Amino acid sequence: MAEKKRAQFGTKLGVIAATVGSAVGLGNIWRFPYECGTSGGGAFLLIYILFVFLLGVPCICAEFSLGRSSRKGMPGSFRISGAGKGWGFFGWAAIVAAFMIMSFYAVVAGWTLEYIVDSVDGAIKNIPNTERHAQFTQFVSGWGSVIWAWVFLIINGVIMIGGVQKGIERVSNILMPLLFLILVAFCINSLLMPGAETGLEFLFKPDFSKITPDVVLSAMGQAFFSLSLGMGCLVTYASYFSDKTPLVKTSIQVAVLDTLIAVLAGVIIFPAVFSYGMSPAAGPTLVFEVLPNIFHNMPGGSIWSCLFFVLLAVASLTSIISISEIVVAFMTDEYKISRVKATVISTLLVMVLATFCSLSFGPFQKLDLFNRFDFISSNILMPLGGMGVCAFVGWRMTRTRYIKEMRKSAQVPPFLFNLVTFGIRYIAPIGVLIVFIAGLI
Ligand code: PHE
Repeated sequence: MAEKKRAQFGTKLGVIAATVGSAVGLGNIWRFPYECGTSGGGAFLLIYILFVFLLGVPCICAEFSLGRSSRKGMPGSFRISGAGKGWGFFGWAAIVAAFMIMSFYAVVAGWTLEYIVDSVDGAIKNIPNTERHAQFTQFVSGWGSVIWAWVFLIINGVIMIGGVQKGIERVSNILMPLLFLILVAFCINSLLMPGAETGLEFLFKPDFSKITPDVVLSAMGQAFFSLSLGMGCLVTYASYFSDKTPLVKTSIQVAVLDTLIAVLAGVIIFPAVFSYGMSPAAGPTLVFEVLPNIFHNMPGGSIWSCLFFVLLAVASLTSIISISEIVVAFMTDEYKISRVKATVISTLLVMVLATFCSLSFGPFQKLDLFNRFDFISSNILMPLGGMGVCAFVGWRMTRTRYIKEMRKSAQVPPFLFNLVTFGIRYIAPIGVLIVFIAGLI
């Protein structure tokens, strides 16, 4: 039977919107501020940015060239590019990571939906700040949180069934500009708060005494998570790029935009946190407990709160879509089942896993799948996966194939090309290894 023609993104804007849509998500607006807040602010930001450009950009290029040259997702792209059996490990690890991330991601994304409703019906404004923690704890430990995660996964499933152009691309083209507009409005509002400087100082003034191996490992994990690296997401998306998409340029654009949005999220959150005398080191509950306290005291708080959680929901949606695409592409490529079937099966499976993740805050506290999945996927599987893809593209994929792919549509200045290639062959695999071993020790 002849292979069905592979789907493609239709426009240049669509490629950027979908790829940046994948990168920009809870990682930027929920995870980055709390990691930064608990890991000492400016110092974390600095190391994070170093990782994004030293390891991140080469890894993105490696994933792009693997995906577009093979026109397959994971693990098929390795096979088609002439990898032996051993390399398949990285492909399978990617699929496992995709299931894990989707499961806890859907839970947090579900919380954003609850918070949109709470903003509209005035609950955020009306609950006294002293009761906020108890209310949040009660909500996340119960079935309310599970049901919202399911709702989110179903919305995701419906879009996925629409396909690459009519689902993913169309939704990203609408949602990404919306997200940017809301961010800018928030930034202006935050910068106008009294005492905003303290927050900005916390974010931008590095205190090098805060740098520990743990902080470095977290910054690396955050860079991988935020850029959607190391689990084949960008391999899969690149398999839908047209031959005209310039890979190096696109990867730099994605890294810059993603970092910009994480920094903007910091600029939104830290001035507000300091202005209202709260602690930036609240951890994962930072945006769900600390920010509502601030909205509670703010003029027009319900509207801002609603906007903020719409922002988070939108960002999460375009990201979770990209994670499910890894799984759906895997099922349709490898097992030749239809897109609809693949979406339904994977959605149901993730609904079950997400239920356990969500109830990690309640009856399944001991199992704690939520934190385990987060730690294993972002701090272990993703860096390992990124290392695998870079090592493969840098050392095993034929040189001609790599060069042809990277230069297909655009002239890359030789200096930049050599830099990226050096990054793929040496800096990324060795860097990940060092930080990894140091962190585990
Ligand atoms: N990059 C996304 C975020 O920042 C999360 C993600 C991870 C998406 C892995 C795809 C793959 O939220």
